[in-house]
Amino acid sequence: MKFFGIELYVEKLPKHIGIIMDGNGRWAQKHNLPRIFGHREGLKTVRRIVEISAKLGIRCLSLYAFSTENWNRPKDEIESLFSLLRNYIKLEKKMLKKNNIKLIVSGDISKLDEKTKILLQNLIEELRNNNGLILNLCINYGGRQEIITAVNKILSSEIKRINEEEFKNFLYTKNLPELDFLIRTSGELRISNFMLWQIAYTELYFTKTLWPDFTPKEFVLAIKEFQLRERRFGRLK
Ligand code: FPP
Repeated sequence: MKFFGIELYVEKLPKHIGIIMDGNGRWAQKHNLPRIFGHREGLKTVRRIVEISAKLGIRCLSLYAFSTENWNRPKDEIESLFSLLRNYIKLEKKMLKKNNIKLIVSGDISKLDEKTKILLQNLIEELRNNNGLILNLCINYGGRQEIITAVNKILSSEIKRINEEEFKNFLYTKNLPELDFLIRTSGELRISNFMLWQIAYTELYFTKTLWPDFTPKEFVLAIKEFQLRERRFGRLK
């Protein structure tokens, strides 16, 4: 199949793509605007990337929307981010339905304000029977927190020994395909506590493009690069 003139192999599509959506603040700075305008612009990119992912037939898209460390940002920026999330839920419901998208959340959402939590839970409920793209919003998510939560669940159970396959079932991603591909925008070469367990054999893609400037075409080009990589999973050729 062809998108933006780029040929993709259907049988080699990554099943699960994660994105660290970085660079909203720098985008705003570059345009002499307050940081929140960068997040607002970033949300438009979220729309475009979710839609193209559904069209491409990607199984799962995990977006790092708010990390456990983001609570250290100024209060008004945090509030703006959650206000954008509420907007997204209200405005995108139709598109998510039309595209047969299912929504799940990774992270501890018990810490969110009631308004946001209820909107989020209602939308998850409304989309629960969809069987197209799984949109996994990572909100108040941290990879270490995810692992510790899993360990604590195990410690309070009867389990005495555990293997990798069993451990996986205690993570937010338990029902999702392996994370094949991770994209980080804005030129930072870090993982920033994202999917630490899941990332073991993930192909990484870093681009200097700031998240608000990241286009569906660059997304397709990134997937093309993924398809040209040789994944050996520790084996020989
Ligand atoms: C990183 O940019 C981005 C975030 C911390 C938030 C990402 C949120 C959005 C794209 C909008 C809301 C998303 C959803 C799914 C509703 P930064 O502020 O760290 O940028 P900087 O490093 O240039 O300052």
